[in-house]
Amino acid sequence: MLTRDVIQAALIGSLRAVVMMSAVTAGLGACSSASDSTSSTSTSTVVPAASKPRAAPTMRELADRGDLNIGTAVDATALKDEAGYRKVLAREFNMVEAENVMKWEAIHPAADTYDFAAGDALVAFARRHDMTVRGHTLAWHQQNPKWLLDADMDRAQAIAVLRDHIQTVVGHYRGQVTQWDVVNEAVPDTGSGLRDNVWLRTIGPDYLALAFRFAHEADPAAKLFYNDYDSAGVGKKTDRILALAASLKSDGVPIDGIGIQFHVYSSLDFDKIAKMMATADRANLEVAVTEADVALKTPAQPDALAQQAERFSGLLAVCVAAPNCDTFNLWGFTDRHSWIPDFLPGFGAATPFDENLQPKPAWKALLKAATR
Ligand code: G3I
Repeated sequence: MLTRDVIQAALIGSLRAVVMMSAVTAGLGACSSASDSTSSTSTSTVVPAASKPRAAPTMRELADRGDLNIGTAVDATALKDEAGYRKVLAREFNMVEAENVMKWEAIHPAADTYDFAAGDALVAFARRHDMTVRGHTLAWHQQNPKWLLDADMDRAQAIAVLRDHIQTVVGHYRGQVTQWDVVNEAVPDTGSGLRDNVWLRTIGPDYLALAFRFAHEADPAAKLFYNDYDSAGVGKKTDRILALAASLKSDGVPIDGIGIQFHVYSSLDFDKIAKMMATADRANLEVAVTEADVALKTPAQPDALAQQAERFSGLLAVCVAAPNCDTFNLWGFTDRHSWIPDFLPGFGAATPFDENLQPKPAWKALLKAATR
């Protein structure tokens, strides 16, 4: 990861090169007079190579300079099969996230079976390219294997199953996954209380605190997040998300922050988002933008693409400006692999790169917003 001092060293190095070049040029002049005195070689003036225009920084370079994690959920099949996908991923991002391969149905397909192969492939790619990894997710109401949903568990048995899963998975990736979405989407879209899921049914409301404690025991260095969405981007539900996370924090639960997914379908109130981040900061909670995409009616029109650029870049700008937001993840970086068309027929084009891995207006706008 390019750090500030590496960049400074590079700058000093290039300054030294300029100084040496001018010394060489001057020296050559002296040399040439010296060589004049000792030989008849003709003098030649050194013509510095025409300065090539510096390539614009990649998002990854901007992220590294700004101490930001800028990443994306990764489609496991595309990672395996598509060299072009891998190339853009490694060039533009410094963080990757498991879109599906670390969810219960994929990683714990049977009660006595864990399958780390796809997760390991993602982590190996990240290590090869000096990227960090977000793990997603350790407790959710979706993508659970049948054996778990059919299990007849009392509270103690359910706690044992949850502990075994979290400590096996987080332990397997100890030191390799820097952030975990420990609990995902536990706040219902309306009303109060907690969303129904297998853990609320079998353990009760304290499953959240237990999940965070199990994860912290398995990897004390990993940052632990509660992750959720609010259809308006930031609304009443977000207030309940903040209240839940703050109460966990004040109960001494090892929670580092909240992930707000930001699957965007309408305009965003950036002032409200900034205020939400400030409220979280006062509760000593980080805020991560964890699943950003901006769905458009397809085929996407130029004005909609321009509006998408404003929404993406405005969201990143709010994160960059907030002292407690240093993670901005997309939920897929290319329209070629996005969950939206399958789930929202008639919508798509939700990411900043098109189906041919070419940057859309949103990408250029994001690059501008990433400059800290
Ligand atoms: O693995 C099976 C495969 O064996 C089968 O052949 C194929 C065809 O049916 O389905 C595959 O499972 C799919 C799975 O993704 C893995 O690709 C499921 O059908 C599909 O429903 C599932 O969709 C995922 C969705 O979560 C499930 O709710 C999306 O890819 C994923 O992007 C999406 O991500 C969620 C986050 O985890 C939480 N926040 C919301 C976000 C969007 O829903």
